[in-house]
Amino acid sequence: MIQKNTTAFEAIPELPTDTFTAPLAKPDHVGLDWLEPKQRVYTAEDHHIWDDLFKRQMDILPGRAATAFLDGLKRLDLGRGGVPDFQEMSEELSAITGWEVVPVPMLIPDHVFFWHLANRRFPAGNFIRTRETFDYIQEPDVFHDVFGHVPLLTDPVFADYMEAYGRAGWKALKYNRLKALSALYWYTVEFGLINEADGIKSYGAGILSGPTEAVFAVEAKSPNRIHLDVDRVVRTDYVISDLQPTYFVIDSFKELFAMTVDRDFNDLYESLDPGFTFANCAVLPQDKVYHKGTQEYALRGGAASLAEPV
Ligand code: PHE
Ligand code: FE
Repeated sequence: MIQKNTTAFEAIPELPTDTFTAPLAKPDHVGLDWLEPKQRVYTAEDHHIWDDLFKRQMDILPGRAATAFLDGLKRLDLGRGGVPDFQEMSEELSAITGWEVVPVPMLIPDHVFFWHLANRRFPAGNFIRTRETFDYIQEPDVFHDVFGHVPLLTDPVFADYMEAYGRAGWKALKYNRLKALSALYWYTVEFGLINEADGIKSYGAGILSGPTEAVFAVEAKSPNRIHLDVDRVVRTDYVISDLQPTYFVIDSFKELFAMTVDRDFNDLYESLDPGFTFANCAVLPQDKVYHKGTQEYALRGGAASLAEPV
């Protein structure tokens, strides 16, 4: 059965004073854990927006999303209609892997985010986008956070990876190498691809919660698709406001777990020169390449030039 990690991480550990974290202004109504006292009450239109976003993704994802993701969606029945109730969803999810989903007002500080993950709590944005921002919003809303991230938390290995990531975050902060660990999160949890018997599928939440990248990530000619290597990925730059020029592919969540959780990152952090990263569109000599991208999309100027996502 699921072991809750209630000893080591009950209280938010204090950060060493010389550790850099991005300063965020905490709204007065939330405590040091940054949790909303309650999930917000949604209007009928909010629920419609969820349903329309859900339908749009479900027309695209079969055959393109990882089996574990589609299974999780079904098991949690996230398409039952309207924005899911966090309490109900958490009860169902915790019966499967011991994870809960908790509401937060906005982006929260890194160390608080890590602390929640280490305790198997997934902090999810409370608000939902509007019709005006239906196609794209930069801040994660409840559709991205719940539809994108929660289904995979039903997979026991992925669920353990996320908890371990939370603990790893604290270590990265102490080494002031958070950028390196964030790149790993970016290229796995947000934009990861996985080899399945009938082809490469997406498991990253950033891919699966939007219609364009859900197709682009697995089918377009532009982006590179490269087997994930930890030493390579932690040194790779990433863009947050456009389709990715490179995706990294794993064989299984067990493989991902073995490469990350089972490895001690101390030497890795110590070997990183501050500030150095590989360009995010590069293919390097040591890469195991599945598809060498044409980068046509990026070369035509990407989203800023309204380039076709080919
Ligand atoms: N095992 C790694 C460490 O020693 C951390 C790690 C865990 C990284 C899980 C990613 C995910 O720091
Ligand atoms: Fe996300």
